[in-house]
Amino acid sequence: MFERYNKELQELKDNFCNRKLISLKKTGKYIFEDNKKCLNLSSNDYLGIAEDRKILKNFLKIADFSMGSASSRLLTGSSYVYAKLECLLAALYRKDKALIFNSGYHANTGIMSALLSKKDAVFCDKLNHASILDGIKLSEAKMFRYKHLDYEHLEELLQKNRNEYDTAIIVTESLFSMDGDIADLNKLVEIKKKYNAILVVDEAHAFGVYGNRGLGLAGVQGCIDEIDILIATFGKAIGSMGAFCTGQDVLINYLINKCRPLIFSTAIPEINIAFSYYVITEVIPNLRVERQELLKTAEKLREKLLSLGLKTMGSSHIVPVILGENKIAVEASKELINNGYYLLPIRHPTVAQNTARVRISLRADISYGEIEEIPDLINKAVKSDF
Ligand SMILES: Cc1ncc(COP(=O)(O)O)c(C=O)c1O
Repeated sequence: MFERYNKELQELKDNFCNRKLISLKKTGKYIFEDNKKCLNLSSNDYLGIAEDRKILKNFLKIADFSMGSASSRLLTGSSYVYAKLECLLAALYRKDKALIFNSGYHANTGIMSALLSKKDAVFCDKLNHASILDGIKLSEAKMFRYKHLDYEHLEELLQKNRNEYDTAIIVTESLFSMDGDIADLNKLVEIKKKYNAILVVDEAHAFGVYGNRGLGLAGVQGCIDEIDILIATFGKAIGSMGAFCTGQDVLINYLINKCRPLIFSTAIPEINIAFSYYVITEVIPNLRVERQELLKTAEKLREKLLSLGLKTMGSSHIVPVILGENKIAVEASKELINNGYYLLPIRHPTVAQNTARVRISLRADISYGEIEEIPDLINKAVKSDF
């Protein structure tokens, strides 16, 4: 009866694409696998907050919150702790309202499927995250995928198709998680106005890292006011759990009524919400220098990778090294882990076929000196005959 699943698993193994769960121990910036101590360069803990015991201890001194919410937000899951964080976020972004979700996956699937219907169209960057794509599929709207960051292509698709549909949404990440490159949000604002579309921006990987208060790239690019729905997550640089969106009253009220992951899932516990509030108000504002250093480290690392003829891209703290075949990425990862750098291979379907890579997720508590050997190790692995 399960033959089919076995066969597919075997195919994944044959293609160096089989995934497994690993039991890891983490301490600060280090990760231990089978007692091997490695620098953790594979998480989204860009500021080292999730594993910072000092921050946690300070937070716990003032924490008096439940560990379970016992219902969805529309029943009794929503409390003053939620309201406090939502008010703060709405004020920081100068928007009518903010709305918290259990995760970025919930936010994206819920928002896209709620705002779109069969009569609508969505114009989606080709490299947008799976959660955005899944939300679009659920909505049954017509999806047009434009080439990654190619706004001429986006305009072509809008010119040809916009008028056939009721509502049109343009959706992009601000910082792309697997390529480390950045959207031109002002250009997208210009386009959304021209074609009467709603602009949705997912700041999952930029929130916490970019901007004076860590609000993300829309703040840096000076266009927060023009973005209709801005989404960000607490599970990455903030070191907590959950996600939120900000926008006008009408859109947030609509989501409260129509967004199924919000309505039909138990809300995450208050303690997480309170921790996100604590990090945004007490921790992030004090990490300005660290955040600048993080971006400088990324720049130096990219320079070294390029000088060795390795293929990298982007301009952020996410530094991908494109290796091509799955097998090469898997072997490079093994070599890096053996040398104390926890870098996992990224393969299809997370990235396109034949663009397997190692994705170096830099973090503010790791200096350039600690990682400058990485490009040489990748180079060695690529050149060796496995
Ligand atoms: C761009 C983007 N949006 C949303 C998510 C999902 O967020 P979460 O992990 O909070 O579900 C991710 C996850 O990596 C992401 O990369």
